[in-house]
Amino acid sequence: MNGLLTLTDLTTEKMLDLIDLALEMKKGLKISYPDKKMATLFFENSTRTHYSFISAMHQLDIKVVDVNTACSSIQKGETLYDTVRTLEALGMDGVVIRHPQDQYFKALEKIKIPIFNGGDGKSHHPTQSLLDLMTIYEEFGHFEGLRCCIIGDIAHSRVAHTNIEVMKRLNMEVFISGPKEFDDGCAPFIPFEEALLTSDVVMLLRIQFERHEKKMNLSKEEYHQAFGLTEQNVSKMKDNAIILHPAPVNRGIEIADAVVECAKSRIYRQMENGVWIRMAVLSRGLEGKL
Ligand code: CP
Repeated sequence: MNGLLTLTDLTTEKMLDLIDLALEMKKGLKISYPDKKMATLFFENSTRTHYSFISAMHQLDIKVVDVNTACSSIQKGETLYDTVRTLEALGMDGVVIRHPQDQYFKALEKIKIPIFNGGDGKSHHPTQSLLDLMTIYEEFGHFEGLRCCIIGDIAHSRVAHTNIEVMKRLNMEVFISGPKEFDDGCAPFIPFEEALLTSDVVMLLRIQFERHEKKMNLSKEEYHQAFGLTEQNVSKMKDNAIILHPAPVNRGIEIADAVVECAKSRIYRQMENGVWIRMAVLSRGLEGKL
């Protein structure tokens, strides 16, 4: 098994190569794999990751088998290994998987075809981080010395955990902010006001109510009042600073409705870049170059 499971496994050079390739494809470079077949296997809901991987496959002329987990033998107790081994036996050249279990891929070590991780539990979301980095690079032309603050439900976020690790490797300064109850110590914590005033990249996170084991201390209204990115708070940001959010967004909680598509927001650019970066990842993965 190769493919892309975590960014920890990928050298910084390979990460930068994926961003370069994605930017080249965005400018018009055409790559095609008409003889390849790939499956998508999503055990958690997804709009962006699931359908941008499918869109990326279409753009690369890869044939797509989109497995409906609700109608497969998974419902009869088939194990993850047996499902993926079956897809391999059916002739797939690779599989994209999202699963709620942290490091689900450890059960798949005997699988020979490449596996591309679309998110595992609270641990890793490698293609989300790559598309975030691509969006930052497009904006600033470099990473060195940029200051990013990730704000919100850090403790439940695979996006935060993946980004913190790779941003540090790229010599960015990374901080976290928001309610202290979500501070899991993965990066230095700064007050919300300082995050707004000093960051080049303000990265908001969705409050992941579905992963909470106990009720959040704040009500949704209190959260928005204390830590929501409102128009007034956007006006405190640096002139060239940008807003990122992996989405889906909770409008009116971590972000005000009017801010989602404001001049500083790159949220829909992130989604566009998600297709290009996933094309780059699939291309390098299918060629055994990850
Ligand atoms: N950002 C992200 O992973 O979105 P989806 O859950 O819609 O894929």
